[in-house]
Amino acid sequence: MAFETIIVDVEDHVALIKLNRPDALNALNQQLVGELCTALEEADANDKVRCIVVTGSEKAFAAGADIKEMSSMTYAEVNATNLFASVNDRIVAIRKPIIAAVSGYALGGGCELAMACDFIIASDTAKFGQPEVNLGVIAGIGGSQRLTRFVGKSKAMDMNLTGRFMDAEEAERSGLISRMVPAKKLMDEAMGAAQKIAEKSMIATRAAKEAVNRSYETTLTEGLLFERRVFHALFATEDQKEGMNAFMEKRQAQFRDR
Ligand code: CAA
Repeated sequence: MAFETIIVDVEDHVALIKLNRPDALNALNQQLVGELCTALEEADANDKVRCIVVTGSEKAFAAGADIKEMSSMTYAEVNATNLFASVNDRIVAIRKPIIAAVSGYALGGGCELAMACDFIIASDTAKFGQPEVNLGVIAGIGGSQRLTRFVGKSKAMDMNLTGRFMDAEEAERSGLISRMVPAKKLMDEAMGAAQKIAEKSMIATRAAKEAVNRSYETTLTEGLLFERRVFHALFATEDQKEGMNAFMEKRQAQFRDR
């Protein structure tokens, strides 16, 4: 499908999705979120793709939901259309790993989009924030929920109540991002991580993603049981035999997703 607000490139088993509304700092309007979700779903369904990277520009991953588009909407409209419900639901339904490569501003819906991915690699220029309170609203795609789980109540309250931005160093210290790298190295680092994931058995990477995500949804006892059962189930795959045999034979495993 031809997109106008994103650029999609599939190379070496990695789908790179670049948000591309430079004049609006990649603000998430309805067209962009629709195209992004469609591109993610296409990548999920594409046998050539084994990992997905979502990125923006050097200046902005995304500066939030499009304020100009939302400003005149009424409560009745946003309630009736369930504004931003589907973007969350459609991203959560993607089964392949998604890395957010963040440079510059990741604010409001931009920070929420990054957090909805599986992990965040950020440049040292990244700035995260939930400044919706400055607009007389609150976060709408997870800024009060996912951020609290990432960084804890105190910092999440601070960011949601004051609207202050968190720089990359603080984000790394607080567990919001997995890695901070110099701006020039961001895409190499993110694509390198994606390549590493792409080399694994996709049955195992999907299982790992499901197991980690389950920890957010259930008790420790239930989560441990889920993890153990999935771990056991993977012994039914050819890839488990290949992975363990390759280790013992001191060679690179050749996974076939079986
Ligand atoms: N929506 C629409 N347009 C936006 C935008 C947004 N969220 N953020 C930036 N833009 C536009 C600006 O209006 C400007 O366009 P014009 O040239 O046509 O005026 C262009 O992008 C460049 O922005 P600035 O001139 O403001 O650039 P700056 O470098 O001076 O400041 C910034 C950068 C600090 C990110 C500033 O643009 C800003 O504060 N943006 C808004 C951030 C925000 O409040 N995000 C939350 C949105 S609400 C939300 O996301 C709800 C939710 O949870 C779902």
